[in-house]
Amino acid sequence: MTSIPTTMTAIDPAAPGGPEVLLPVQRPVPTPGPEDVLVRVAAAGVNRPDVLQRLGLYPMPPGTPSIPGLEIAGTIVAVGDAVSRWRPGDQVCALVPGGGYAEYCTAPAGQCLPVPAGMALTDAAGLPETWFTVWSNVVDRGRARSGETILVHGGTSGIGVTAIKLAKVLGLRIIVTAGSPEKTAAALTLGAHAAIDYKSQDFVEEVRTLTQGRGVDLVLDMVGGDYLPRNLKCLAEDGRHVSIAFQRGNTAELDLTAVMRKRLTLTGSMLRPRSIAFKTAIAETLEGAVWPEFESGRLQPVTDRIFPLAEAAEAHRRMEAGSHVGKIILSVTP
Ligand SMILES: NC(=O)c1ccc[n+]([C@@H]2O[C@H](COP(=O)([O-])OP(=O)(O)OC[C@H]3O[C@@H](n4cnc5c(N)ncnc54)[C@H](OP(=O)(O)O)[C@@H]3O)[C@@H](O)[C@H]2O)c1
Repeated sequence: MTSIPTTMTAIDPAAPGGPEVLLPVQRPVPTPGPEDVLVRVAAAGVNRPDVLQRLGLYPMPPGTPSIPGLEIAGTIVAVGDAVSRWRPGDQVCALVPGGGYAEYCTAPAGQCLPVPAGMALTDAAGLPETWFTVWSNVVDRGRARSGETILVHGGTSGIGVTAIKLAKVLGLRIIVTAGSPEKTAAALTLGAHAAIDYKSQDFVEEVRTLTQGRGVDLVLDMVGGDYLPRNLKCLAEDGRHVSIAFQRGNTAELDLTAVMRKRLTLTGSMLRPRSIAFKTAIAETLEGAVWPEFESGRLQPVTDRIFPLAEAAEAHRRMEAGSHVGKIILSVTP
């Protein structure tokens, strides 16, 4: 077995700033706690919250590592005393509280999942953050049921492509928005039943037409601000509105008449500050309900582009340019 070094290459900006702050530096290899594993990171996923963190705009939960990166895949090299499920040599992907942009990263054992058989580590690294988030918001908070219709904003984002894939597994009718004809075409290829170019079409009118005036049962919203009243117009009776981000502002005007007349539910959540126990429960559910779909080939990961860790700045530039479809990945160690 390879010995574990004391230092490693990581991305750990000294101060907030543009993508240029994402330079490789040397940092100590972290030590796993009793319920953690230490992973030699093969690849790490890039998520929009990493961009917000880099800019100094993310409310970091206390104790979070300053090294960015919320998801990894790689090989376990050490396990804490209380860990029974995993052993050195196991290949896992994991949701981590931070620290993913590095050669080594600790992960709570319960937040690890096996790499689905046959899947590349660079693809597996892009699964945890969006699958944990989308499952918890569409199934648990949004109470999606087979036969219902969902509206997903940002249908080609990392979150959006996962929402399309999960909605297909659940048997939902899927309407998405995206910001260009290329992206609406990509969303249809990925399995959306309808895709609205929100820059050239009024999504409220389009949803009305697509649902024959009935509306959708669920909105998964990452836009917020002035989208909230428009989203409520899209909802059918007993509809659910789930907020996971607010790219157009965290305050919104709310027509209570619509909430009362249609008996709407407004909810939302933020994954990162939730407890390890909560995330462990989602991991167990995903392993039972979703991982077999990956292993059978019925589900496929949607990887946009892979950058070496040293080019993390380029990876962030691509995300901020908004031309990606699906997950941007950092390749860390061979
Ligand atoms: N609550 C949570 O626990 C949680 C967890 C993870 C992520 N998030 C949030 O979820 C969002 C997506 O994350 P990600 O990593 O998947 O990022 P991403 O790939 O960069 O996606 C951002 C998406 O937002 C879309 N968008 C922006 N303005 C829009 C508008 N006016 N109408 C419709 N879509 C719009 C973009 O669509 P176009 O490029 O087509 O314009 C893009 O697809 C981020 O805001 C992130 O902070 C929340």
